Amino acid sequence: MLSRSSTICLKRALSTISKCHISSLKRLNNSLVLPSSVTDVNGWVKSVRVLKNIAFIDLSDGTTMNSVKVVIPLKNTETDTIDSEVLEHLKKFKTGQSITIKHADLELTPHREQKYELKVNKPISDLSILGDVSENYALQKKYQSLPYLRSNPILKHRTTYLGSLMKFRSQFDFALNKFFNLEDYTKIAAPVLTANDCEGAGELFKVESKNYLDDENKNGMSYFGSSTYLTVSAQLHLEILALALSKCWSVTPCFRAEESDTNRHLSEFWMLEAEMCFTKNITDLTTFVKAMLQYSVKECYDNFNELIPNNAPEGCLSKEKVKERWDLLLNDSSWSSITYTEAIKLLKIQHSKIPFPKYVPRWGEALQTEHEKWLAETCFKGPVFVTDYPSETKSFYMKLNKDEKTVACFDLLLPEIGEIVGGSLREESFEKLSDAIHKRGINKNGDLDWYLELRKEGTVPHGGFGLGLERIILYLYGNYNIRDSIPFYRAAKSKISL
Ligand code: 4AD
Ligand code: MG
Repeated sequence: MLSRSSTICLKRALSTISKCHISSLKRLNNSLVLPSSVTDVNGWVKSVRVLKNIAFIDLSDGTTMNSVKVVIPLKNTETDTIDSEVLEHLKKFKTGQSITIKHADLELTPHREQKYELKVNKPISDLSILGDVSENYALQKKYQSLPYLRSNPILKHRTTYLGSLMKFRSQFDFALNKFFNLEDYTKIAAPVLTANDCEGAGELFKVESKNYLDDENKNGMSYFGSSTYLTVSAQLHLEILALALSKCWSVTPCFRAEESDTNRHLSEFWMLEAEMCFTKNITDLTTFVKAMLQYSVKECYDNFNELIPNNAPEGCLSKEKVKERWDLLLNDSSWSSITYTEAIKLLKIQHSKIPFPKYVPRWGEALQTEHEKWLAETCFKGPVFVTDYPSETKSFYMKLNKDEKTVACFDLLLPEIGEIVGGSLREESFEKLSDAIHKRGINKNGDLDWYLELRKEGTVPHGGFGLGLERIILYLYGNYNIRDSIPFYRAAKSKISL
């Protein structure tokens, strides 16, 4: 059975294909009947080589990260001499320009890596420049480092590595949609503007109307009439929806005014969050998280592994190393689970042998990145769920365990990166939740009253988690800095210029 796109390709294959994207050329290559020519091929010049008798243009349009080779003979076949007009025309072509090909022959090159190329026989009429580039176009063919590319946000996505990364992110997002659909989850559009600090860490960005701030007559009034912030997590809103739909999820931009200037922190990042009702224990959540990650890694293998470039920039993982990470996640036996208390015991033993550089591991304190990395990388050599943290180290909404010291929560730690997912059962008892909120001295102005009220209206045991999208992309694509996992990064002390 042919897919719809292949059927279209085959139909087109009976004649010349017009308005041709490079991705459809690539698909066409797998079909049985090939057209002899194509028309209206557009893209950007990756490189140009003008040789003695022939010129080559590598053309890319971003629909696939493979470029197509365009061949232009420089010899006039009738006179058997170089056509000087054609040569002059070709000299105008430069890396970075957008160009259009009106008509080209599709030539098969079965002995080469790329099984076809485009031959333009009449370059003067059929090959033209749509948009020129400046003299010092920043992406000449030579290698550019990622820090350099980061400083050029308007052009950087045209490089194979970063362009492919964006396509990988898009495909990964699609894989997650497939997974949640199969699991009967409803996708929710959670608000970005909120009155609540879900994590209670005070890392909020305040939102106000510029007109209100600028207008003296508004007398310090607020557009919404009360303090409003950019969300740090959609969880609280998802809980409302979960109590109506049983299983829901969202992918939302989240904003945190964290000072951490690291390779894993952004001020604006996207979080995948899921919330499920009628949970029995924390294993309901960890089993689901493992299944979600394994499903999406399998999708990477089956459907978009070609997006991992063969050549990685300095500091990034090679294709082989990326696949090792994927295999680690797919292999059931590489996964572990321990409690926080057990983790602290292991960390203390390790600390007595080789002290951790910055932080002494102590029960009652948060695990630091150096502890997380040691656990996943050195101790367990794979993904590890750490469960049941002391309640003081976690947020107010987590369900208290029977020991009344720890909460029913987990962090998923991965080698080389540390925490990637955080989740918990939610405290469903009105009294216990009230108690936790009261003890922390939060909800002074009643912002969380609605959240408490929810416990009085058909409350059920429920729980959920949040996965940092840029962190999982970083892990699965092999780029070392989270700033490259998002098209336009925002981080503390990095001025926002676009
Ligand atoms: O552990 P966190 O803070 O959990 C929550 O916000 C919960 N309310 C989620 C839930 O249960 N619905 O954040 C979840 C994940 C982290 O594990 C991390 O992967 C990512 O979000 N994350 C960040 N990613 C990039 N930059 C930051 N500043 C991040 N902070 C958290
Ligand atoms: Mg966390």
